[in-house]
Amino acid sequence: MKVLLIGSGGREHALAWKLRQSPRLTALYAAPGNPGIAEEAELVALDIDDHAAVRAFCLEKAIDLVVVGPEAPLVAGLADRLREGGITVFGPSAAAAQLEGSKGFTKDLCAANNIPTGAYRRFSDAGDAVAYVREQGAPIVIKADGLAAGKGVTVAMTLDAAIAAIGDCFDGAFGAAGAEVVVEAYLDGEEASFFCLCDGTDVLPLASAQDHKRAYDGDEGPNTGGMGAYSPAPVMSEAMVARTMEEIIRPTVRGMAAAGHPFSGVLFAGLMITAKGPELIEYNVRFGDPECQVLMMRLNADLLSLLHAAATGGLGDATAGWRDETALTVVMASKGYPGAYAKGTPIGPLPESGPGTKVFHAGTATKEGTLVATGGRVLNVTATGASVSEARARAYAAVDAVDWPGGFCRRDIGWRAVAREA
Ligand code: AMP
Ligand code: GLY
Repeated sequence: MKVLLIGSGGREHALAWKLRQSPRLTALYAAPGNPGIAEEAELVALDIDDHAAVRAFCLEKAIDLVVVGPEAPLVAGLADRLREGGITVFGPSAAAAQLEGSKGFTKDLCAANNIPTGAYRRFSDAGDAVAYVREQGAPIVIKADGLAAGKGVTVAMTLDAAIAAIGDCFDGAFGAAGAEVVVEAYLDGEEASFFCLCDGTDVLPLASAQDHKRAYDGDEGPNTGGMGAYSPAPVMSEAMVARTMEEIIRPTVRGMAAAGHPFSGVLFAGLMITAKGPELIEYNVRFGDPECQVLMMRLNADLLSLLHAAATGGLGDATAGWRDETALTVVMASKGYPGAYAKGTPIGPLPESGPGTKVFHAGTATKEGTLVATGGRVLNVTATGASVSEARARAYAAVDAVDWPGGFCRRDIGWRAVAREA
C-alpha cells in the first residue's frame, strides 16, 4: 500500500516509524515532514492547506491511504475534499471533527446522550457569562469554544480569574475561537487520556496514557502542548476502561452516527477520573502529541492494517496487541517555550536508538548538515521498561546523552506512577 502521511511533529514521526514496519507498506510519503520523518518516508513539498494540491498528488501517485496527523486540516475539511476524489483517508470529516473543533458541540452531544461531563452553559455574550459565573462561584472553568492551540482553557480558582478569562475570550485573545464561550463545572480527580479507533460504527479500544501539560517540574508553570507522557496510565484499570467504553465512547460513536456525522479516525478522550468515575473533559479527533509516541512504542500490531480498517469500515473484527511494558517519553523543548524562544539552536549528534529507546523529532530541521531546533517542542526522547521507573531511568539516560544547550525538559515525567510503584 502507498501511504501519504500529513504532519510534521513528533506524533507524525512516531506514526511514520510504525507504518514503516508494516509488511503491507510499499511506499511512504510525508508532507511536510521533518528530518526524523525523512528517515522513514520520502518528504514531499506540499502545502497541506492547499487541499486541491494534496488531492492531485494522491491521484498522481495512486495513494491508497492518507493518514492525517494534526487536527487543523481535519477541522478545515481536508478528509472531505480527499474523499470526494475517491481517496481513502484515516481521519474524520469536518462535521465529525467538530468533536474537537467546537467545545459547545461536544457538550451538547454529551447532554443529548447522557455522557458524564461537567455541567455547562454556552455563552455568546460576556455579561451573561459573568452573571452565570457569579451565580456558580469558583472554582470554575472557562473555555473558548473553538481551536485555540490548547490555550483557550482557564481553570479559574477564583471568581476574579474567571471574570478575567471571560474578558480575554470576548476581547479576542483567541481570535474567532473565543467568540463563543463554554463555562463548565470544575472536575476534581486524576486526568487520563484514552484512545480508540473508530470506523463510523465499530470501535477498537487502543490504550491509555498520561500527559504532563505544565511546562515545569511539579506541574508548575504555564500550560503547553505536553511535556512528556507515559502509557499505560495506571488509573485506567480494566474496570475503568470498561466504564469509559460503555458510558462515554460508545454513546458518542452512536450519537455521532445518529446525528449524521459518523466518526472515523482516532478518538482521543481527555478524561477526569473523579470519585464518581470517568467524566469527559474534552475530545480530540487525532492522536495526542506526545501520547502517540508512547502508544506506538507499545503497539504490537500492524498499524497500517489498523488505520486502513478504520478508514474503510473494517474494524468489526480488528484486534490490537500491546507490549506488556511501560513506555515513557520526555519532551525536550527550546528554552523559553511555551513563551518566546530562539530558533535555529544547534543540536549535536543524537544518541543511537536501542531496542527500547527511540528519539522522535518534532520541531527540527537540517541546516548545512547540522540538526537545528526550529520549534517549541523539538525532541521526544522515548524508552520502554518493565516498570514506569525503569522506562523513566532509560529515557533520562538518553536525554542526558543529547547535546543541545538551547533546550530544556522536565525531570519528573511519570511522577504519579513512580510514586505508586514506590
Ligand atoms: P482542555 O484543553 O479542554 O484539555 O483543557 C486543558 C486542561 O484544563 C485539561 O487538561 C484539564 O487539566 C483542565 N480542565 C479542563 N476542563 C476542566 C474541568 N471541567 N475541570 C477541571 N479541569 C479542567
Ligand atoms: N498532548 C495533548 C494533546 O495532544 O492534545
